[in-house]
Amino acid sequence: MRVLVVNGPNLNLLGQREPGIYGHTTLGEIEARMRALARELGLELSFVQSNSEGGLVDAIQAAAGTASAIIVNPAAYTHTSVAVRDALAAVGLPAVEVHLSNIHAREEFRQSSLTAPACRGVIAGFGPESYLLALRAVTALLAS
Ligand code: DQA
Repeated sequence: MRVLVVNGPNLNLLGQREPGIYGHTTLGEIEARMRALARELGLELSFVQSNSEGGLVDAIQAAAGTASAIIVNPAAYTHTSVAVRDALAAVGLPAVEVHLSNIHAREEFRQSSLTAPACRGVIAGFGPESYLLALRAVTALLAS
């Protein structure tokens, strides 16, 4: 089973970007932790990071036929992108939305997600652990 992990804008800067909010762990380190857990869970992972909305849409569309599920952190596009939401709905794969920070405890504009309704669930607020929890959620979704 292959799971596509899609990360949106500015997440390539994790580790140096607003560490008080997002911590010191880099995206590469998160990916390494995910790969280690995926091995235990019997999943294969592919990773895409894009700073553009179209890049996220293209990656999500490409998952059709190549992946069984999607883990997505649309980053700022969470709050603005009908296109990312529509792409998730179009491919119809089980998707889990992830956020490092607890978006519900932040500025008002971050408290709503346009993309979450196209996902099976959302995990937010646990830092890098959010991604590992999402892997476990995907495992449960694929087993059900
Ligand atoms: C984020 C939360 C978003 O509001 C923000 O724009 C991000 C990161 C998170 O993982 O906490 O870039 O998705």
